[in-house]
Amino acid sequence: MPFNPKQLAFRDTKSKIIIKTPEQIEGIRASSIIAANTLKAVEPFVKPGTSTEFLNKVCAEFMLDHGAVAATLGYHGYPKESCISVNEVICHGIPGPYELRDGDIVNVDITTIYKKFYGDTSKMFLVGEVADHAKKLVEVTKECLAIGIRQCYTGNYLNNIGYEINKYATSFGYSTVYEFCGHGVGIKFHEEPEVCHIADKNTGPILAPGMIFTIEPMINAGKARCKVDRKDGWTARTIDGRPSAQFEHTICITKGKPFVLTDVDSEFEIPAEIF
Ligand code: MF3
Ligand code: CO
Ligand code: CO
Repeated sequence: MPFNPKQLAFRDTKSKIIIKTPEQIEGIRASSIIAANTLKAVEPFVKPGTSTEFLNKVCAEFMLDHGAVAATLGYHGYPKESCISVNEVICHGIPGPYELRDGDIVNVDITTIYKKFYGDTSKMFLVGEVADHAKKLVEVTKECLAIGIRQCYTGNYLNNIGYEINKYATSFGYSTVYEFCGHGVGIKFHEEPEVCHIADKNTGPILAPGMIFTIEPMINAGKARCKVDRKDGWTARTIDGRPSAQFEHTICITKGKPFVLTDVDSEFEIPAEIF
């Protein structure tokens, strides 16, 4: 038999993807709802003059008030209960004294642990009047997540998610970050598989009911490359200083349409007829 690395990767990856039981799915859904509601709770505070540290405090209190713990706090030494990434920060921005300004675009990323189950979601907020080019980037990135979710059906190749996301993002002249990926989630923070947002068509594991993973495209206005802050070891920025946007949901594969566990407003729901 000729050696086929893709085939090998396929078998290798698939075997480690946890298929969740109905009880586990219910637990992960409960955690996901708290994560999503944390983003709703912080929204009114995302305005000019508010520090990202204050936004983090609002998130941290909301999670605790609802019986959840922030998964990020202490994760590989990460110091805060949320990630807050402004403008050219791609992801893993550490909340601090920076005060939001008119025109900023901000991602807040929340991961909850509730009764041992993980839910992971993030979204963009616009601060005051945002320039059209930045608004467009945010809008296209949100659509990238929607496009990824439409690929989430039993029998499809996992990598068709990234293939379609990257095709759409590049059609606007944007680039897809490849150094950070989505991931299996639920029992642990980061599980297999890796969900790449730029990938080859019809490759990777085959999706099956009970798989739960995130899709979290990071789309850059300019170059795809990022650099991680040498001082804090976390903050990932674009190399050209141009803005980056991200949206994230936790998704469960079913026999029919995907169950977007963190989508409490059914914003990303797909009409059942498509499936
Ligand atoms: N929530 C991020 C994700 O979507 C991970 C943050 S890890 C941290 O995977 F350590 F930076 F908080
Ligand atoms: Co994630
Ligand atoms: Co996240």
